[in-house]
Amino acid sequence: MLPTFIQPDLDNLFANLWQTYVTLNPYVEQIRQQFITLGETPVNDHIALRTLDHPNCGLEQLVDLWLPFGYQVAAHYQFVDKKLIALHLQHKDEQLPKIFISALQYQQFDVTLQQLLAHLVQAIPKSLLTQTHLLYSGRHWPIDWRTYQLLAAESEYAAWFYVYGFTANHFTISVNHLKTLTQLPQVNQFIEQLGYALNTVGGVIKGSPETYLEQSATLAEMCLIQFDDLDVPQPIPSVFYEFAKRYPDTSGTVFQGFVTQNADKIFESTHRR
Ligand code: NI
Repeated sequence: MLPTFIQPDLDNLFANLWQTYVTLNPYVEQIRQQFITLGETPVNDHIALRTLDHPNCGLEQLVDLWLPFGYQVAAHYQFVDKKLIALHLQHKDEQLPKIFISALQYQQFDVTLQQLLAHLVQAIPKSLLTQTHLLYSGRHWPIDWRTYQLLAAESEYAAWFYVYGFTANHFTISVNHLKTLTQLPQVNQFIEQLGYALNTVGGVIKGSPETYLEQSATLAEMCLIQFDDLDVPQPIPSVFYEFAKRYPDTSGTVFQGFVTQNADKIFESTHRR
């Protein structure tokens, strides 16, 4: 049994994650409000976090921040081409969002980039590494355009993390919990009618009922970012909103995992365009 004081702390963590996320992309709050106007109470299917596969702040270290709240690791994933490993955490309270955490295996990059990324981790205050505040603490290092370009040429994910650091990359509305727009195509039409662009990589809908999970996502909003070696701020893709519809698997229970072929395309919502 969890002590009763845990829940308010968790609510606080979600509120902080949401606040940082909305600051980067105000459209996500507008979209959420549009669902509320429809009479819906949006429930989050999952929240996605990004990090580096470094012994100070890798998957294991981020998982440790969620365990005290009653979350447990449910499954592991690998994205070979993108050099990512990932896992998802689940809570026994099914109303609580799953937490999807990915980590960049930057040790597979050339030595220069490896050293560069490891150096970023050294800039994170040690005391922060064991606090949930880390998860929405943003960037802890200065950034320059030359380095951004270098990283982007190797990995869009690396370039994104270099600019934004620790923040929710996306929240995901659970279509299963919606009362009026019960199918993903209806949700997508609703979003497009509101004037928001969807990620079309691999089709607007990633996945199918046959893989038990269908997902779509908005394109990440552009944030104007100031780099130390440029006079003019540059538009850089930030964070986005996702929508997920889950189906019962062969056991008859609603599938709660993730499908790597879908997620592989969802990652591309933050690519430069
Ligand atoms: Ni997602």
